Amino acid sequence: MRLGGPARYVAELSAPEDITKAYRFVREHNMAVAVLGGGSNVLGRDEGYGGVVLLNRLCGLRIVEEGGGKIVIEAASGELLDDLAAFTAQRGYTGLEATSAIPGTIGGAVMQNAGAYGQELSDVLVAVKAYDTQRDEFVTFTRDQLELSYRHSIFNSSEKGRYFITAATVELHRDEIEGELYGSLQAYLDQQGITNRQPMTIRAAVSAIRAEKLPDPAVYASSGSFFKNITVREDQIAEYRARFDGIPIYLIGACWEIASGWLVEQAGLKGKLLHGMRVSDKAALILINESARSYADLACARAEITQAVQKKFGLTLQQEPEELG
Ligand code: EPU
Repeated sequence: MRLGGPARYVAELSAPEDITKAYRFVREHNMAVAVLGGGSNVLGRDEGYGGVVLLNRLCGLRIVEEGGGKIVIEAASGELLDDLAAFTAQRGYTGLEATSAIPGTIGGAVMQNAGAYGQELSDVLVAVKAYDTQRDEFVTFTRDQLELSYRHSIFNSSEKGRYFITAATVELHRDEIEGELYGSLQAYLDQQGITNRQPMTIRAAVSAIRAEKLPDPAVYASSGSFFKNITVREDQIAEYRARFDGIPIYLIGACWEIASGWLVEQAGLKGKLLHGMRVSDKAALILINESARSYADLACARAEITQAVQKKFGLTLQQEPEELG
């Protein structure tokens, strides 16, 4: 969002030894510590950060196993998710093609189980390596230890701040996406007259949809969706549909979700400029910093949007980007 003050210390980490060294420094000086991957989904406060910000520069994609229509790759956490999506799609493997063009690193993607257009990292994740800052040792998690669900893992909830993710192992198969496609992806393919679902075709389609709808954070100050969709239980859906005519509720992965973008649009805020923050006129969940000068401006815009949605629907929006500090 290009807001917020400076950090007291910054360190770039490009090898496991850098991690142990950095955390030793942090422990010795009793300092706060925060980890950044690409930083595109993280907000800084105006007062800055009084501790150490660790920039994750761990890199490397390693094929662990390939054959029989399957590939297993270990990706260092500082690699870009999109590079892994490209690498696998180019070789004809399905599983990450619909996550194409999501900004940020593998570490960030694991932490919040990043996903888009019908796929989530959890669909392909088999293991995660991390440094345990409490026990000063490197550990390995299997996927069932990670409590992966919509934008959620142990790393951004119960174990927040404890681990520095160093690598993720993914397994993909030489195939195509099966079953129903994500609505706007199918609509795009229909409109273009495309019927094949090869990974590179889907990658190109998703990249085109994103380029049209989502601001590139390298150009526009934005963290993508600023609010999460609202997850609901299946037995609540009928009640919501009866209360709010036309409310979009979709099954995404294993979760039923109310499209929060619709709520913001219905609250009359799509395209509006609030305290320097633009509510995108293409997708109302997206905020772009046009002229906000501080985190405080963003906080005012956030409050106006959440209050408007609360007043109209009685539903509480939750912020999607993480915060430093
Ligand atoms: N909608 C509206 N008005 C809007 C935007 C959306 O009515 O202005 C409704 C429409 O019914 C539409 C539905 O919401 O059919 C879903 O919209 P869209 O496919 O654009 O997705 P989204 O819910 O706005 C989510 C993710 C995006 C991800 C897309 C595609 C969250 C918080 N956001 O957005 O992720 O790219 O789906 O899968 O889950 C991100 O997390 O930063 C992000 C961009």
